[in-house]
Amino acid sequence: MNDLVVEGKIFLWSRGIVEGCVGIKNGRIAEIKKVARGEEKIRCRGVILPGGVDIHVHMREPGMTHKEDFYTGTVAAACGGTTAVVDMPNTFPPTDDLDSLREKKRLAEKSAVDYGIMVALTEKLGSQVRAAEEATGIKWYYGTTTGAVGWGDAKKGVSVLAYIAGQSDRCQGKLLTVHAEKGDGTGDNARSLEEHSRMRSVEREVEAVEAIGNTVKKAGEETKRDVNEWFVFNIAHVSSPMTVETARKHGFRTEVTPHHLFLDTGMALGPLGKVNPPLRSKAERMGLWKKLVSGEVDVVASDHAPHTFEEKNIDFPEAPAGLPGVETRMPLIFYEVKRGNLDLEMFVGLVSRNPAKMLGVPKGEIAIGLDADLAVFSFQNVSRVMGEKLHSKCGWTPFEGFNAIFPDTVICRGGVVVRDGEFVGERGWGKYLGGNKADGVGEREH
Ligand code: NCD
Ligand code: ZN
Repeated sequence: MNDLVVEGKIFLWSRGIVEGCVGIKNGRIAEIKKVARGEEKIRCRGVILPGGVDIHVHMREPGMTHKEDFYTGTVAAACGGTTAVVDMPNTFPPTDDLDSLREKKRLAEKSAVDYGIMVALTEKLGSQVRAAEEATGIKWYYGTTTGAVGWGDAKKGVSVLAYIAGQSDRCQGKLLTVHAEKGDGTGDNARSLEEHSRMRSVEREVEAVEAIGNTVKKAGEETKRDVNEWFVFNIAHVSSPMTVETARKHGFRTEVTPHHLFLDTGMALGPLGKVNPPLRSKAERMGLWKKLVSGEVDVVASDHAPHTFEEKNIDFPEAPAGLPGVETRMPLIFYEVKRGNLDLEMFVGLVSRNPAKMLGVPKGEIAIGLDADLAVFSFQNVSRVMGEKLHSKCGWTPFEGFNAIFPDTVICRGGVVVRDGEFVGERGWGKYLGGNKADGVGEREH
């Protein structure tokens, strides 16, 4: 007998939607059948999808818990259909060695959904191979941004990566997310969205990706160590179609955020829209949609970077960069599925299946043996995003008034975390994703 049965229209990868039951036992998917019996049964009106995986969030712990913490941030994730998140290392103190990683793991135990933790790529990591082994992935801040640790030196970065991969095969096959913007912080005193975009230009993003790509290639030829085979290179928050092309040329994956897809410099957001890399013009934004729809983008991640409204709503040059978005990521894009702008399979690939594979975690699909992470969305359930109704501690959203479809039911490892659109989960339900090898690393065609 199953612990729980979820019945309705189930989305199965490469098969599409079938009517039936997902049987859940001990937190895993035990059967997928026309009829199944369980202790409890939930009948769903919407479409049953795998829970979302958001590989780029800032939960602000330790050091900035007035903006967010692991509990509030993961409640927000759950309410948006996301059942696993990956936290970034730009906290105070930064997550850049074994002690800070273990401390963050302890703080993250309060999470309501599953979580991964990234360590920062710095010279220190070379002497902290255990930290790289234990972390879910590595974040490379190539270029400056809010609270970043690291450096924009491609040669140094690649040599530390080659070193740690050579020291331990447990470091190989991990997700390596790169904040690729060339420069030294010029542009951080811009006075408007347009100026910010001009100063932290698309060219600087492209140049950074080129520099990293060329260095990886050169190092591979010199040392016969192909770090692009050893790590899953993911270029974070790519803001323009040109950067997508450059990243793909070098065999890198790309991640795109909802804010670069839905917001642009023509909108009256002022400092509330300040983010790195900056929002671009409407033409760039539409170009990014084209890349997404044509299958050239691997992941949609939120880059959930909460700052309070008071912190953001000041003079543009002083306002911190970063936008909240973990709760609205799937709802905003799912609304585009309803409108016919993106097909359902591509949606699932971008928000759930691809990121799960890049992390090497047993999630991202409704299949026997995988974690029972489900998110049920009804096409009829259109609402407008309202900052005051969201669950992030920061209390506002740059997507105020946008149409979206929030999930009715969300299940994380068999535990119901959202019912009828309300959070019903538990503090501490989430588990650490660990540090895994991505699926198929080394076998990928470039
Ligand atoms: C992020 C933040 O606030 O932590 N800010 C941002 O503009 N995206 C840092 C980052 O990811 O660059
Ligand atoms: Zn970020």
